[in-house]
Amino acid sequence: MRLRFILNGKPMEVDTHSGRRLLDLLREDLGLIGVKEGCGEGECGACTVLVNGKPRLSCLTAAIQVEGKEILTVEGLWENGKLHPIQKAFVETAGVQCGFCTPGFIMATYALLSENPDPSPSEVREWLAGNLCRCTGYAQIIEAVLLAAKYMRGDALRVTRAEKTS
Ligand code: FES
Ligand code: FES
Repeated sequence: MRLRFILNGKPMEVDTHSGRRLLDLLREDLGLIGVKEGCGEGECGACTVLVNGKPRLSCLTAAIQVEGKEILTVEGLWENGKLHPIQKAFVETAGVQCGFCTPGFIMATYALLSENPDPSPSEVREWLAGNLCRCTGYAQIIEAVLLAAKYMRGDALRVTRAEKTS
């Protein structure tokens, strides 16, 4: 069957079948290997992508469910070869170690900050409860999300400028 959707801002048409998972369509058919398969059964969040702006586990989503929808993966966050502020914050806080869980965390963070630009640490923890990381102990990830929120609100930029002029 023919499937049409928007992928990372670009219209896409692919042939697929009713049993295909969105995860396999993205990784295997379209080469978006930033979408990771951890558990494959909805427990780890590594496969998180955004469907119409909401985080979805692509391992539990049938490809045919995205007909006519907008999909955003971590590959869609790059602009002109530059890291997105969320990616930058994860790197700066050591929220990335082996990196396997990172695309899922970044996409979940993107959805959080789109809804709530100034979350508290407990709101961040609650939102990311479905994403697992075996390396970081989570403290750096929470720090990364709070820093990303500052970058996206422009606070960090203002702080940097104020420090430079004082
Ligand atoms: S691979 Fe989808 S939740 Fe773990
Ligand atoms: S950085 Fe290794 S699993 Fe999270």
